[in-house]
Amino acid sequence: MDKLIIEGGRVLKGEVTISGAKNALLPIMAATLLTDEPCIIENAPNLRDTHTMIRILCSLGKTVDFNKDVIKITSSGHSYYVADYKLVSVMRASFCVLGPLVAKLGKAKVSLPGGCVIGVRPVDLHLKGLTSLGAQLDMEAGYIIAKAPKGLRGTHIYLGGNFGSSVLATANVMMAATLARGITTIESAACEPEIVDLAEFLNKMGACIRGAGTHYIQIEGKKQLRGAKHKIIPDRIEAGTFMIAGLITGGNIIIKNVISEHLGAVIDKLSFMGAEIKKENKDLIVGYKRYLKPAEIVTLPYPGFPTDMQAQMMALLSVTEGISIITEKVYPDRFMHVAELNRMGARIQREGPHAIIQGVDNLCGAAVMASDLRASASLVLAGLVAQGTTTVSRTYHLERGYENLENKLRNLGAVIYRQKE
Ligand code: UD1
Repeated sequence: MDKLIIEGGRVLKGEVTISGAKNALLPIMAATLLTDEPCIIENAPNLRDTHTMIRILCSLGKTVDFNKDVIKITSSGHSYYVADYKLVSVMRASFCVLGPLVAKLGKAKVSLPGGCVIGVRPVDLHLKGLTSLGAQLDMEAGYIIAKAPKGLRGTHIYLGGNFGSSVLATANVMMAATLARGITTIESAACEPEIVDLAEFLNKMGACIRGAGTHYIQIEGKKQLRGAKHKIIPDRIEAGTFMIAGLITGGNIIIKNVISEHLGAVIDKLSFMGAEIKKENKDLIVGYKRYLKPAEIVTLPYPGFPTDMQAQMMALLSVTEGISIITEKVYPDRFMHVAELNRMGARIQREGPHAIIQGVDNLCGAAVMASDLRASASLVLAGLVAQGTTTVSRTYHLERGYENLENKLRNLGAVIYRQKE
């Protein structure tokens, strides 16, 4: 296992180019199970999660070639229908193979993903949606066994939960419905840009999906889908993380290859705090003025403030003078980073789904432990501004979702390097 060493206190300056979106790529890779024809995916980030999904696809009978940022997925001539616990348990997004498998093969056996540090994370909506499409689902020894020997049939599905909509449940059900007989409508669908990207890929494969990006998606089922070529959208969470990297160090950064509309809530909040943010074509220019002011943040499904930016924002608010409040509405237990930030001198108090942050003048470097992907990012950001040396252990969390993070930060002037633990 590796750890990251960061010498804090450097002002970041320069340009950084954002990679393809992990959360768009993973369901799109799963969607290739809906066809036997070759698919080509461009702008694919080289991440640990990408390789996990490659292993899953190979275990299901695909042949995958990953070269630079292009993934070519072809059929090996054999199809398998079992997604193993070892692969699904390390990455929740792998549960997304369930919909495509049962739609294409009429059967699937996919391990339940299990718990994770950011909360309970049930899959009831995935199961509700697939059952509505006519799949017969049973649970056996931690696996979902799905059967639809006569195929799936289109229907109306209300897919909302108490918290709003679910991204991967929408993806799973939308993919399955592309091969169902008749028309499926998903009400209370997730509107995330990654769902729109998936729908675009599926439409290139010959699916007929309308309304992606709204809460109401309509899918006209087709007998079969074909191969397709697609370029993944830029990663809005990586872009948001670099915006904060610039601001937390008092620097100025040009962030290239961004769709700024995907970052509306983040740009709005940072601008309110006093950041200077300019949009120029596909670039975002983020500058620090004299000081930032505290903020109140509530995480919500898109287009609200993303839960995947909550931990990074908390690092910034930790060194922003005044009292800030974060309310986590998507994963009310997603606060593993609080204790670690406090070990670096932050003053954060958790009260149920709220965190109350009293900005301090300085953080101090410390040995901290990464607990999940975005929590790890927040510790790196805190390390960039802390006085002295910060050591972030368990870097494999970061490798799940950030391509070349250290190199990108080093190119901006950070002192950050990797060591074996
Ligand atoms: C996706 C993202 C993840 C992000 C999350 C919320 C991917 C690969 N991952 O995860 O990075 O943090 O969206 O933006 O795209 N829920 C249920 N029942 C379900 C499904 C979800 O109760 O069947 C709840 C969850 O516990 C959570 C909320 O719904 O409270 C939102 O979760 P969801 O949108 O499903 O997250 P994921 O799609 O798993």
